[in-house]
Amino acid sequence: MLTCYDFATARILDEAEIDCILVGDTYGEVCLGYETTQRVKVDHLVTITEAVRRGAPHAYLVGDMPYLSYQVSPEEAIRNAGKFIADAGCDCVKVEVDRRLAGTVERMAAATIPVMAHLGLKPQSIQSAGGYRVQGKNAEDAKLLIEDAKIMEEAGAVALLLEAVPTEVAEIISQGTELPVIGICAGPRCDGQVLVFHDMVGYGGGHPPRSAKQYAQIYQPLLDAFQQFSSEVRDGVFPPMDTSPQMPVDQKELLQKLLS
Ligand code: KIV
Repeated sequence: MLTCYDFATARILDEAEIDCILVGDTYGEVCLGYETTQRVKVDHLVTITEAVRRGAPHAYLVGDMPYLSYQVSPEEAIRNAGKFIADAGCDCVKVEVDRRLAGTVERMAAATIPVMAHLGLKPQSIQSAGGYRVQGKNAEDAKLLIEDAKIMEEAGAVALLLEAVPTEVAEIISQGTELPVIGICAGPRCDGQVLVFHDMVGYGGGHPPRSAKQYAQIYQPLLDAFQQFSSEVRDGVFPPMDTSPQMPVDQKELLQKLLS
């Protein structure tokens, strides 16, 4: 699973036969430049998710429900989830949860909405998580996390996503559930892995998390291309005459007469 936020990238992911695409609310950070994901709006995400679906018709598409689009009430959660499923063509929606939102997940599942439950580090509640840090490192927190995973399965979730949890905890959760478990910074024992597109191709220019392997570095080639374009325009090298539109000779002569 990889994240994706636009049509052109979605086409490449489709050609690469990536099984699962997440249109994550990390969009707010990597594309809109927000400090956190909390400012992302449903309409933002529904619009780009539709574009991703057009570019990648084959992947299992997961829409990420943004901050406060599902926490206020089950009714609002169902209504907003419907936009991702019916308008954007998602196969499933992802919500950042713990046991306190089990009732909402249950109501969404009962309303025929496939739900992926995101557990562990929940960036939408970063303040209460005490910052971007691994969750469930001590035995008591780990036990709560393992219980939460079971509670989400019982509530009707169709998949789990574990973010920033110790490998041992991810393994216990994966072995103890029938659901597919996708990990990010959760070790190799999950059923699948997700990375944020900008991190894995080195697009952001910053320092991606240590757990996010860079499979390409596209920042420098893009910088080189932009700089070369700029200097070629200044130097009159681009565009060259041979690819520039020309008038037919007779029309050029006629124009000269008309202007003289
Ligand atoms: O929004 C997102 O991209 C995510 C991933 C970090 C899993 O939730």
